[in-house]
Amino acid sequence: MSEAKLPERVATAHPLRHVAIIMDGNGRWARARGLSRLAGHRAGVERVREVLDACREHGIDIVTLFAFSSENWQRPVEEVHGLMALFAAYLRRERNDLVRRGVSLKVVGGRSRFSPRLCRLIDRVEQATAAGGTRLNLAVDYGGRWDIVQAARRIAEQVCAGGLAPEDIDETVLERHLCLADVPAPDLCIRTAGEQRISNFLLWQFAYTEFCFADCHWPDFDGDAFRAAVAEYRGRQRRFGRSLPAEPSRCSGSG
Ligand code: IPE
Ligand code: IPE
Ligand code: MG
Repeated sequence: MSEAKLPERVATAHPLRHVAIIMDGNGRWARARGLSRLAGHRAGVERVREVLDACREHGIDIVTLFAFSSENWQRPVEEVHGLMALFAAYLRRERNDLVRRGVSLKVVGGRSRFSPRLCRLIDRVEQATAAGGTRLNLAVDYGGRWDIVQAARRIAEQVCAGGLAPEDIDETVLERHLCLADVPAPDLCIRTAGEQRISNFLLWQFAYTEFCFADCHWPDFDGDAFRAAVAEYRGRQRRFGRSLPAEPSRCSGSG
């Protein structure tokens, strides 16, 4: 059911525009089947299309997937090469399908460690899909700390150039320089495979994000698991630091 078709009370109490997913557990999924870690990553990539379907079903128009962290470079070189090759293959293979589905792809993270060829491929797919109304952010070589540091550096450059006074730096200014500056913060973050940590994902944006943890490994995460996470989210009460709204008093009024 799309957000627009939800009962109005649910849709306004629980707007769900942006979902972030920490796609964890590919390695354990593969090990349990006697397969290589790369086979697990390959199975994980196959799940992305289903996530996009589920987002459409729930009227979610922004999804941010954590695919490769700043720290994942420390993995064995064969695994890193394999993951980069899978990333490039995904971009080549899915480009037309993303256009057809109206999905605009944005790759967020540092690109200095990518090959020039991969950088050109990313640019091409981003340009080809730019008109899409649903946003898919793929976080690759991404770290929340890295994001805040690169924002701070760009702000410092503006200050040095005389374009900004230090006393004018506030949360809005910093936010404007983060990778996801053009979208609202995630309403919901789902992490698969049982781990309950952020692992350096969207540190700034997660200030008031709701978390759901799924026990299954990422390659087993399907539409039903997504639906269960959304249902859990719908049952939450988001307060953003405010106190509970007062119950309407039964004794008020004259009648
Ligand atoms: C997530 O699966 C994918 C990446 C981090 C690239 P993992 O590779 O972390 O799988 P586990 O956690 O070892 O099972
Ligand atoms: C988080 O998973 C990063 C991605 C899913 C891309 P990790 O497997 O790298 O995180 P830790 O090491 O369990 O915290
Ligand atoms: Mg992991």
